[in-house]
Amino acid sequence: MKKKLCLHNIDAYAAQGLESYDLAGQTNTRDDLRTAVGSVHFDALVIDLDERDAVNAVVEALEQRPNLIVIGVIGTNDVNKAIAAQRAGCSQLATKPLEPGDLKTALSAAFQSDESNPNRGSRTVALIGSTGGAGTTTVACYLAMALAERADHVGLMDMDFEFGGVAKAWDLNPKYTIEDLLQFEQIERQSLEDVMIELPSGVFVLPRPRNIKDTHKIDADSLQAVLETMRAMFPYVVLDLPRRLDQLTGCAIENCDKLLIVTQQTVNGVFNAARLGEGLVDYGIEESRIEFVLNRYNKRVHQVTVNELTKRVRKSPLALIPNHYKSIGQASDLGEPVTDSNPVRVAIGELADAMFGEKAKTSSSGWMSSLGLKK
Ligand SMILES: Nc1ncnc2c1ncn2[C@@H]1O[C@H](COP(=O)(O)OP(=O)(O)O)[C@@H](O)[C@H]1O
Ligand SMILES: [Mg+2]
Repeated sequence: MKKKLCLHNIDAYAAQGLESYDLAGQTNTRDDLRTAVGSVHFDALVIDLDERDAVNAVVEALEQRPNLIVIGVIGTNDVNKAIAAQRAGCSQLATKPLEPGDLKTALSAAFQSDESNPNRGSRTVALIGSTGGAGTTTVACYLAMALAERADHVGLMDMDFEFGGVAKAWDLNPKYTIEDLLQFEQIERQSLEDVMIELPSGVFVLPRPRNIKDTHKIDADSLQAVLETMRAMFPYVVLDLPRRLDQLTGCAIENCDKLLIVTQQTVNGVFNAARLGEGLVDYGIEESRIEFVLNRYNKRVHQVTVNELTKRVRKSPLALIPNHYKSIGQASDLGEPVTDSNPVRVAIGELADAMFGEKAKTSSSGWMSSLGLKK
């Protein structure tokens, strides 16, 4: 996937040499910029800071898209302006007159320091149910959407290779699936992009194989390669796991930063959640990576309470997702998500925040040295 750029008040001469990027937006007015940033998932914005109100435009663009990389272009070595640009959130500065190639250099530096910033490293969440029908796929799909609202694009892989329902949940008819990747000796970004389906929410789905017999061609090595490529492509990767502990599920669990065990408010659900958590710890998975989520929660159900779950699994559940059978069932029948004010979506949005919070946007080094202001 070529990185998407928006150029604001940058002339065609300076934009030469950016062929390796997708120039998805070229704007000149504040309104056009606002609309473009609101509708396209740009990776970076290059903006002329000498224009009136440009610093405010940067602040606004970053409010719209907190993970956007901003390159400011300025005419003079004006320290005050450089400091204002940094405060506003510019990660690199380029000085005028801009020659072809200058922006490419600034962009490469900005993307490089962005990738080495641990706060922006990719995070993988895997979800597994403690009982069949616990709502794992439902929570995985809405969690991917919630993360995409916070980070623009998210990879969601249906790892229930035999019976997975992620594509169905969105009424997708995949042309390609994970099995089409297996023909390649090396899994490249481009081939993954060709196979994944991009949804309007910014979630990119990697569907399960078309036929059951193809599921058994997937081995842990190719899965590992797919997972690594996805991590390089997306700030968040969500894995919807089958309820089975085998080599492939094990590979996914080893690769994840957080494992969410989804359970319902039943004796069996809670018992199995504890059993699964303990079993994984026995296998060497750190307890701190395992979290519990209570789905279809109803506070009027008294046979299993949140306290009992907490006692049993020795951890407070990270989310209580309400039972909303009508809306969730209808949405999944239609293959459309419920509205963003639906209590299930709100609770899952809070779960996303509880797991990762607002990723701190740290200023990257290099912007001052590019102006000769700091070594
Ligand atoms: N919070 C919820 N409220 C009501 N129904 C839910 C909720 N979460 C899931 N469901 C329903 O439960 C059923 C099983 O969900 P699914 O996500 O397929 O579970 P799993 O992947 O664990 O098998 C589906 O019919 C789904 O619509
Ligand atoms: Mg499922």
